[in-house]
Amino acid sequence: MKLRAIAMFVLAIGISSAAQAAGEIIIKFSHVVAPDTPKGQAAERFKQVAEKLTKGKVKVEVYPNSQLYKDREEIEALQSGAVQMLAPSLSKFGPMGAPEFQLFDLPYLFPNQETLHRVMDGDVGKKLFAKLDTKGVTGLTFWDNGFKQMSSNKPMHAAADLKGLKMRIQSSKVLNAQMKALGANPQVMAFSEVYTALQQGVVDGTENPVSNFYTQKMHEVQKHMTISNHGYLGYAVIVNKNFWDGLPADVRTSLTQAMKEATAFERDVAQKDNDDALAQVIAAKSTTVYTLTAAERADWQKVLLPIQKDFESVIGADLILSANATAAQVAKEQADAASKPAASKPAASKPAAPAKK
Ligand code: SIN
Repeated sequence: MKLRAIAMFVLAIGISSAAQAAGEIIIKFSHVVAPDTPKGQAAERFKQVAEKLTKGKVKVEVYPNSQLYKDREEIEALQSGAVQMLAPSLSKFGPMGAPEFQLFDLPYLFPNQETLHRVMDGDVGKKLFAKLDTKGVTGLTFWDNGFKQMSSNKPMHAAADLKGLKMRIQSSKVLNAQMKALGANPQVMAFSEVYTALQQGVVDGTENPVSNFYTQKMHEVQKHMTISNHGYLGYAVIVNKNFWDGLPADVRTSLTQAMKEATAFERDVAQKDNDDALAQVIAAKSTTVYTLTAAERADWQKVLLPIQKDFESVIGADLILSANATAAQVAKEQADAASKPAASKPAASKPAAPAKK
């Protein structure tokens, strides 16, 4: 642990001991992104609502920006009970023995957020959370970030433009296969180390939703971004199972309600945060933003879609089939709604991501 992390850790222990002495239940919520990201804001919203609904019985301490733990360490800390709540990205569940979560990493599987939400909130999401039970972890809900864009120091229009690039990825076998299919050289690295690695040329590029890219100031060290929407990055909010099961029932009910409110808030702000971040990246002018044409997108899809088949045995063919069926159902409903006269149309689902330059 670095000095700053040690200082935060000591401070956290100090605050928690004082609160525990006052008879409060402490929830340490650790995460790796900035406070002004969708996840960062929702963690704060959960804190506000949880403390209000439990009338001070629960105190939520939010530690953003890897202040306490980096990616892998935070999951170990949750399992050991050093922290009680996390929201790791879905790509980070493979190393803890739940490779099925890599469903959400499959390139071009999810065309829009409506499909994602139906999959997360339905049987597939339940099956995924059931996988965590034996690992000392309880899944509470899914949060969005958004669709990922590629960045590097060279323009990326054709899929072949990524050939030979060293690309930082999260610890996911699907993301590893994705970068290899593009001819790139994938490098697993903790989120907190990406800015420096880009700055020092340890890696050439990365992928992330724009809100993460901008709040980590990656636009200062990346000359090009391609709006590729080739994959998705979202989160599962998880708690230490013993801690959760041991809570008084009334407290657990209030926390469940607080999480419901935080989730509604989070899903509401995520797309807007990404739109705003893209506008900021464009305004900063240090990164050229390029949007794939339909033909270029088809080229990327041709290279990346076979990964779905390759990972059937790892993720489960049934889960992939179910996600594809949901996508088809949503597309049908959206086409039906679009063909209805304007007055009877329901509100349209937001498109996957902005297609601005
Ligand atoms: C996060 O959004 O939690 C981090 C994503 C990453 O590691 O790229």
